[in-house]
Amino acid sequence: MVKAASFLLVLFLALGAHSLSAKKCYLTGRWVNDLGSNMTIETMNANGDFAGTYHTAVSATSNEIKVSPLQGSRQRGPNQKGQPTFGFTVNWSFSDSTAVFVGQCFNGEDGKEVLHTSWLLREKVDSQPDDWKATRTGRNTFTRI
Ligand code: BTN
Repeated sequence: MVKAASFLLVLFLALGAHSLSAKKCYLTGRWVNDLGSNMTIETMNANGDFAGTYHTAVSATSNEIKVSPLQGSRQRGPNQKGQPTFGFTVNWSFSDSTAVFVGQCFNGEDGKEVLHTSWLLREKVDSQPDDWKATRTGRNTFTRI
C-alpha cells in the first residue's frame, strides 16, 4: 500500500515537473524556411493578432523581389498546449499575387522550435477561363534564426 502510494507520488511529481518544464513555441522573432526565405514576426497583441515582414528567396515572377508585409492570427484557445496553430497572409509588394500560410508552431524533440506550414499562392489572371491555373500550393518548414 505504502509502495503504491510512493509510486503514485513520484509519478505525479514527474508529470508535474514535465508539464512545468514543457517549453512553449513562440511565433515572434526571425525565421528561415527550407527555400531560404526569411520572415520576421514583429508584434503580437493580446488577441493573438500579429504583423511582420516576409523576404521570399524565390518568386513565380521575374520582378525584383522586395520585402513584403504579412498579417496573421494565432489561435488562442485553451488546448493549444504551447504549440499553437496560426495563419497569415502575405501581400506581396512586388507582384499582383497574395499568399496565405497556415501552420503550427512545435517544440521539436531537440528543444528547437519549428513551424510546419502549408500555403496557397494566388496569382492574378486576366479572365475567368484562366482561373484554373491561378493557384499554387505547397509546404514550408521554418526554423528560428
Ligand atoms: C510571387 O511570386 O508572386 C510572390 C512571391 C511568392 C513566394 C512563394 S510564397 C510560397 C513559397 N514560400 C516561400 O517562401 N516563397 C514562395
